[in-house]
Amino acid sequence: MENLNRRRILTLGAALGLAGVAAPSTAWAWSSAGSITGTDAVDDPWGVWDDATDPLVASLLTRGEIPAVNAAMESWVRNGDPLPAAFPPDLTAYLQQHNRLPAWADPAILRRAARFNERMGLYLFLLYGLGSGIMSTVIPREARNVYWSEGGADMQARAAKTFTYGYDLSATDAFTPSGHFVVTSNKTRLTHAAVRHLLPQSAPWRAVTDDQDFIPISNGDILITFHSLGTFVHGKLKSWGIRMSAAEEAAYLHQWQVALHLLGVRDDFIPATWAAAHQQSQYALTPLLAPTPEGVDLAEILLGLTAQIDLGVTRGFLNEFVRYVLSDRIGDWLGLRRDLVARGLIQVGWPAYVAFREGLSPIVPEGFATFDRFVRALAMLFLNNGTSPTYTPITIPTGNRPG
Ligand code: HEM
Repeated sequence: MENLNRRRILTLGAALGLAGVAAPSTAWAWSSAGSITGTDAVDDPWGVWDDATDPLVASLLTRGEIPAVNAAMESWVRNGDPLPAAFPPDLTAYLQQHNRLPAWADPAILRRAARFNERMGLYLFLLYGLGSGIMSTVIPREARNVYWSEGGADMQARAAKTFTYGYDLSATDAFTPSGHFVVTSNKTRLTHAAVRHLLPQSAPWRAVTDDQDFIPISNGDILITFHSLGTFVHGKLKSWGIRMSAAEEAAYLHQWQVALHLLGVRDDFIPATWAAAHQQSQYALTPLLAPTPEGVDLAEILLGLTAQIDLGVTRGFLNEFVRYVLSDRIGDWLGLRRDLVARGLIQVGWPAYVAFREGLSPIVPEGFATFDRFVRALAMLFLNNGTSPTYTPITIPTGNRPG
């Protein structure tokens, strides 16, 4: 019975005509009319994983070939790199299919996204790092998955690997042969497939996970994480009054649409517009946010690692900045100690700092030097690949966090 996982229960249930067997507790009602395929259907992405990748990676794990694949992956970094000769033939055949952009990706729009990323650099690093990074700890399934997977035991290395993804996505040549992002995405997709195979074998994870997560990292889960990254950042930039042309906003979305496709999300789940993305986010991400013991622990580790860097601010300021971008409710869930003096400075000084930087106000705001040093130090943290002293490549796990 132990191996009768959710996917098999659903299939079995459908075959037996048992409506509602192990049905998701939150029914999905977002129509794909708002997706890039524009087809009008309501399919549940929490019941969709990655059929193209999961059996292959499960087989590589069972055959004990992942360590050799990880070693061979070291020389496979740029989008234009040839596939390593040492890859097993089935992995090579798979990558020949998937290690490329979708037909609908538009190189001109991706170039515009790259210029936009460059212009927005400081805000992006700040928001991905302190906003999305900490938000991931209050997405219960993600927090439990990350905590109980192999990488959860070494958050410093894990954070560095995740920074690699954000950095590769935001690089000016991200999608071109000299860039890294297509390869990094494929490594991530393979990693996620390994997690789907491995985590269900973890007794401590099974003890805490919910019914919907019985096989982790569904298409629905990946969409939610996208909303904690791209959709969240888009919303913040808008609310901060940052000037973005309609073409830039569309390009920033296009880059994420391609990123989701490369992670194995079906095109009929990928929002076609920012309006559709925000609607999907409101509906799918916001109600799911909640604290978990694993998430509280991860947030403390992540903020502790960040605080090790000299950002020129106190830990209280860091806590309050997280509260400011994510809400006091989330700050309370995570037990982030209050610093009301820092909060006062942020509340008044940050909008003034943004207005000054954006040329919307000629007045140099109070605390300008503090904010400027803070955002630049955070950017350097990203550019230096996190808190890790050396480059930390993405590798496919072969086990789980010890219980
Ligand atoms: C691994 C990115 C969605 C759970 C990774 C890695 C990256 C990444 C870059 C490799 C680095 C590492 O091993 O730490 C993303 C992106 C996502 C996404 C960009 C969506 C836009 C998710 C979701 C979950 C998840 C939804 C769970 C619900 C994990 C886990 C690992 C991982 C458990 C493996 C950690 C290990 O090595 O043990 N992800 N991820 N990810 N991701 Fe994701």
